[in-house]
Formats: sequence, C-alpha cells, structure tokens
Amino acid sequence: MQSNNLNHLKLFLPGDKSISHRAIIISSFISGVHKIRNIPKNEDVLITLDILSNYGLKINYDKDLLMLDSTNVSFSNTVVNCGDSGTTARLMIGYLTGLNISATILGSATLSKRPMDRIINPLRSFGANIQVETNQLPAILNRSNKLETFDFNLNIPSAQIKSALILYALSLNGRSIIRGKIKTRDHLEILLSHLKYPIYTKRDRIEIDGGVKIKKCIDFKIPGDISSAAFIIAAAILNQNSNIIIKGVCINKYRIGFLRAITKMGAKIKILNKKNIYGEEIGDISAQYSKQMHGIVINKTQVVDTIDEIPILSVIACFASGTTIIEGIKELKIKESDRVLAIIDNINSMGGEAKQDNDNLVIKGKKRLYNTYIKSFNDHRIFMSFYIANRLINKNLDTNFNDLSYKKSFPEFLSIIDRVFK
Ligand code: S3P
Repeated sequence: MQSNNLNHLKLFLPGDKSISHRAIIISSFISGVHKIRNIPKNEDVLITLDILSNYGLKINYDKDLLMLDSTNVSFSNTVVNCGDSGTTARLMIGYLTGLNISATILGSATLSKRPMDRIINPLRSFGANIQVETNQLPAILNRSNKLETFDFNLNIPSAQIKSALILYALSLNGRSIIRGKIKTRDHLEILLSHLKYPIYTKRDRIEIDGGVKIKKCIDFKIPGDISSAAFIIAAAILNQNSNIIIKGVCINKYRIGFLRAITKMGAKIKILNKKNIYGEEIGDISAQYSKQMHGIVINKTQVVDTIDEIPILSVIACFASGTTIIEGIKELKIKESDRVLAIIDNINSMGGEAKQDNDNLVIKGKKRLYNTYIKSFNDHRIFMSFYIANRLINKNLDTNFNDLSYKKSFPEFLSIIDRVFK
C-alpha cells in the first residue's frame, strides 16, 4: 500500500531498545563477529554493551554499523553495574546464572528499589545460589552445582522474566519449558529462531533445548523503536496540520497495543509497506492531525501490549473527548517510577482530571490544561509524555530542559519532536 500524501515529514528512528539488548547479549554467546546496524545509542543499551565489553566483547563502530567481536569473550567473576537499566539487570541475572559464574549485580539507586524477586525466585527454584537482602539489587550470584533445566509456570506477563529464563536455559543441557503468561514481546524467541536455535513457541508453552552451539553470526539492521515512535505519533495526531511518516518501525504484534488503542480513539494512522525481516514485522507508520479523538476502555490484556506507552496514551486521553479507562495498572507502579502516581500528579497539576480507581487509571478528557513544570520522577517516558502535553499547549515552550531523563531510551527526542512542531 502506498501513502497518498506526499507532503509528510519523513522520519527514521534509532533501533528498538528491547531487540538491541537481546542482540548484544546473544552476540556474546556466539563466538564470531556480529554486524548490527541502527543500534540505538541510548543510556540503557550502552550499559548492556559496556557490561559485555568487560567480559571481552570487542566493540567497533563504522558509521551506522556496529561490529561485535566475541572471539575473546570469557566469563569470570566480576562486578556488573546495570546503571538504571531494569532490562539489563534482569536479563543479565538469568544469563550469568545459566553460565554459572560468580558475579555481583549492582544498579543505580532507582534500579536498586525495583523488584528482582520475580527473576531470582524462579532461578533459585532451579538450583541457583543467589544472595539478596530485600529482593532488590545488589544481588550476588554464586556458582552452584545444583543448576537444573525447568518446567516453569510464569504468572507475571513480563518479557523481561521470560527472556531471562530463556537466557538461563540456553546454557543448561536438556529441555526447559515456560508455560503461563508467555504472550509478551517475543524478540528473543524470534532472534534465536532466526539463528536456527532449537526454541519452539507452542500455543501454551515455549520449549528450549539448552546446550546447543549456535554457528550463525548476527547480521541485521534493528528496526525503529515503536516505543520511541509512540511519542512522535502522539505529537503528530494532536498537533494541528501535522502529517508524518516514520519509516521502518518494529510492529511486532506484542508491541502495538498503542497503535490499536489510538486507532480506536479516532487517530488517523496507517501502517504501510509491511515486511518481515529475520522474523520481525516492520512497517512505515503514517500519522496525521486527528481532530476527533475520543476516550476508550483499555482492558488488562491490552495493557500488556501497551505497557511502555501508557504515559503517552494518558496524555492523548487528556486531549480526547470523554473518559478513558486503563484497566490492570499494577505493573505500571514498578517501572522506572510509579507511573500511575506520576501520570496522575502531572495531569492534575496541569488542570486535567486523572485518578486511580482500584486497579484502573481513569482520565477525563478535554479539560482546560495549563503549562507546568514537568515532574519526571527521573522517568524518561514520563518526561517525554508531559513534554509533549506542555508543548501542545504552548508551542514556544520553555520548561525544565536540564531534565535529561529522556536520554535513557531516546536521546534524539528533543531534536525530532522539534521537527514535528515546526
Ligand atoms: C522490556 C519489557 C517490559 C518493558 C521494558 C522493556 C523488555 O518490561 O516495560 O521497558 O525489553 O523485555 P516487563 O517485561 O517487566 O513488563
């Protein structure tokens, strides 16, 4: 399908953060030289790169091409500092436990308040020897001679836990099985299948045959990050006269809850030029000013596929008519900030109306909003969401620019968003 309008602003975004973490970790697992294009240079991904370079992964850039040479990677006892990256921490805990090395896993003050029991408890039940004081970082991984394959029922719909378990299973000889809430972003499953690894996703379970050597090296381009695209799309649909197209975005079915939700709310968006590259769906997303947005109900299951986009979706709800109800918000309370609290605080201080009602977030739209100082709670997605809300009210916005939290996932945010509001 072709786009009809030729006057759109054409944008390309840095590669997807979730795919990048996984591609870097898997590069360290397969001996050889890996070639990855469009890796994002955000703080979280740089942390994962840094950790693996401490284990001997050689990093070389040639413009857009990142070359990772894992020939001399050797895993030995070390300190692993995950900075502020929760994905890095959880994935590395699973990966290093499977490799059966000792390590001390540290994180920033914020990360050290986030729950790690969700990954440590399952690993302990497979024989891992992990010490933590309060189910938070720091975590000390000790070698164990009791490590086993597993048949585990996952009861939190978290791709971080699922991926950590898969990374653990890779190093254990024999079959491991994950059942339960497995319908979350499946980038690791897709990447491993592309590399011909014996991992099988069935209707109700994932089976992984551990201890198999991978011969193929990674050689691909990471598609644009849909979670970053969401901010640009939101700005475009809410800003009069905007008309944009974002090329080559990852539209993995577990990542596009946001696109589904705003389509229902009345957004004029289209996905064009769909392709499948190494198993991932990608497409160009066109978005234009959409005058008649209205509130909707987003249920618990839909929230899983929209998990990182709830803050920007809440901003859209403020500009839409009627009420938006987001159900099943528990997981949002343990992200980089308590996002439920952060969303409610920012909306209400701008003159909007948002509240928590049991396990739901309720937002009333079309209230008169005013510019305020953005309270980011040091959370990148809260900052970017309320930056857009403020910018929509006043295009010549002057606000707290010394808040650099957005660099965690999207350092190019301010320069790209400027182009949309021009
Ligand atoms: C991520 C999974 C999600 C998401 C996070 C990145 C990943 O976390 O919120 O930003 O790359 O696996 P959960 O799986 O814990 O929901």
